[in-house]
Amino acid sequence: MASPISISNSNSLNILDFAVNKGHGVKGLAELGLKTLPSEYIQPPQERIDTSIKHAHLNSIPLIDMSKCEDPEVAEAICNAAQKWGFFQIVNHGVPMHVLKDVKDATHGFFGLPAEEKLKYSKERSVTNNARYGTSFTPEAKKALEWKDYLGLFFVSDEEAASLWPPICRNQALEYIKSSEMVVKKLLEILMNGLNVKEIDEIKESMLMGSKRINLNYYPKCPNPELTVGVGRHSDVSTLTILFQDDIGGLYVRNTETMKWIHVRPISGSLVINVGDALQIMSNGKYKSVEHRVSANGSHNRISIPIFVNPKASDVIGPLPEVLQSGDKPVYKHVLYSDYVKHFFRKAHDGKATIEFAKA
Ligand code: OGA
Ligand code: NI
Repeated sequence: MASPISISNSNSLNILDFAVNKGHGVKGLAELGLKTLPSEYIQPPQERIDTSIKHAHLNSIPLIDMSKCEDPEVAEAICNAAQKWGFFQIVNHGVPMHVLKDVKDATHGFFGLPAEEKLKYSKERSVTNNARYGTSFTPEAKKALEWKDYLGLFFVSDEEAASLWPPICRNQALEYIKSSEMVVKKLLEILMNGLNVKEIDEIKESMLMGSKRINLNYYPKCPNPELTVGVGRHSDVSTLTILFQDDIGGLYVRNTETMKWIHVRPISGSLVINVGDALQIMSNGKYKSVEHRVSANGSHNRISIPIFVNPKASDVIGPLPEVLQSGDKPVYKHVLYSDYVKHFFRKAHDGKATIEFAKA
């Protein structure tokens, strides 16, 4: 019988090989019972997160009750939140609680699989680009690694998902995507109204929500969480992101006025909504795609499940004509969305730098 790997420190272990190539991920590292964080994960001091500020700010992102979204004041609150914070939380969003619970359980189910099972979806072995298991963000970018494992699922069709997504989580992930569609449409309608776009025609609908990706994120308990991050500073490249998080917490958002980091307190049953770069570009900078990051946790495993609502890869995005009608100069040029996304994934997380790619 093969003896289980047991080590008290990481000196004898090739960390990258174990976590990345062998498919154990940071979850595998956590389960070895390491006493100290492997050096590969040590972030430079300026990137580490001071979690003690978590409760110091009463001032957090707006909370919006979607059951009242026909009320013009609520619609205005949504547009204001997208301008000032780039982030808000919603309740009474119409996504059933059992759908959220099921996708959360399925996430634990997937990451609980043996490494060999998860490796079937690795970059090297996966038969499809549309289901990808990985660890850290671009481990090949030669920056400090991040304490996170993920499964990324790009939605093409029900049939494709049924044949290519991992059986243990595909139905639950599909259900979550389907049942969030209504609230996504409603939010986009309201946000477009705020830009003087009165009707979302077919072309706009493709640009706003022509493709979708769901990520199952797993952040295992971490030795020395103060030295690393779960996710480094970044903004999303989506139009909108709809994020479900469990009750552990750890997501921080940069306030656009004070530049201070604000903790997003988990509210049971809520969803976190944020503006992505594609919407910042289309709104010519009116709606803000704001920097955010995730801390590592010394005592709990955490999961989060974002749905990235995106333009189609083949769409050319730029400031919408309605937004420029007032005579404003375009801040951004037109870019092929797939070029923009490629640019994002080529580098390590670097805050708001991606959007420079689209600067006019
Ligand atoms: C992301 C992200 C936040 C979280 O996946 O882009 O920012 O709370 N996740 O996991
Ligand atoms: Ni993000």
